[in-house]
Amino acid sequence: MLVDTYGRVATDLRVSLTDRCNLRCTYCMPEEGLQWLAKPDLLTDDEIVRLIRLATTELGVTEIRFTGGEPLLRPGLTGIVERCAALDPRPRLSLTTNGIGLARTAPALRAAGLDRVNVSLDTLRPEVFRRLTRRDRHQDVLRGLEAARAAGLTPVKINTVLMPGANDDEAPELLSWAITEGYELRFIEQMPLDAQHGWRREGMITADDVLRSLRTRFTLTPEEEGRGSAPAERWIVDGGPHRVGVIASVTRPFCGACDRTRLTADGQIRNCLFAREETDLRAALRSGAPDGEIAETWRAAMWGKKAGSGLDDPSFLQPDRPMSAIGG
Ligand code: 5AD
Ligand code: SF4
Repeated sequence: MLVDTYGRVATDLRVSLTDRCNLRCTYCMPEEGLQWLAKPDLLTDDEIVRLIRLATTELGVTEIRFTGGEPLLRPGLTGIVERCAALDPRPRLSLTTNGIGLARTAPALRAAGLDRVNVSLDTLRPEVFRRLTRRDRHQDVLRGLEAARAAGLTPVKINTVLMPGANDDEAPELLSWAITEGYELRFIEQMPLDAQHGWRREGMITADDVLRSLRTRFTLTPEEEGRGSAPAERWIVDGGPHRVGVIASVTRPFCGACDRTRLTADGQIRNCLFAREETDLRAALRSGAPDGEIAETWRAAMWGKKAGSGLDDPSFLQPDRPMSAIGG
């Protein structure tokens, strides 16, 4: 298993399939995009499947989430999903996407064995979408969401980041819409993971801000079970059955219950989103290392996981890689 010195066990593997994206969300990337990874540096489909097999059969991983950048931009995605669904034990398979292209790909992904999707959507207003993502693709995302629901990639979850002066007044409207459409909405606090280093704690919309705004229109009661290892705190809306989630990575960190391990598109293990070090599995793969040796390297990488993100420490330094290169 992937255990660390604090006794946490990582069972949830985030696999970034590409660092590229077809949007330019202001909290993530600059307008001009980034210096993308070169093709030879990316893990091949075979290398990815080998590492996922190792993680599920040797290291106790039970959940695989494909991320990016935008994972739908990876040509081999459906094949990778299919091969992962054939593993024994079969991991649960999900995908975090911006939704563009999902209208076309949802049925094939479902048929390949994908269980569910998380779609990022920050606004219901096309012009605000254009400002936040710098692309005019709002309609594509809405169509992608519908296709995911129709294909049975459910529950379809929506990730929303509220940005001051852009969409910070939209929380109640988004929740009311999500309930009508049957999507599960979760608000995520903006984290210091943008390539431009533009994050300022003073400016961010906090979980408390979100809850205050939602309570102008809804009655929220905390869900009984608590959040366990799930980062989202969930609230029952107007007595149920609908729920809304708030992921307060900054103001209410959940590092003590973290069960994540991350693989970047170029084959590096990160034991935390905010880690400043990575462990290279690609070199091991390409030098012909046997499974046992790769598994041992992965275990060692997780053993050294720090207690927390360090966000509250005055000496906090943003990781060198932005969110799009780490995977959410
Ligand atoms: N802070 C919080 N969430 C972010 N995402 C991307 N960048 C940030 C950030 N700086 C979200 C995306 C997507 C998920 C992978 O993470 O909107 O939903
Ligand atoms: Fe793309 Fe996601 Fe970054 Fe937006 S947040 S630019 S959709 S990778």
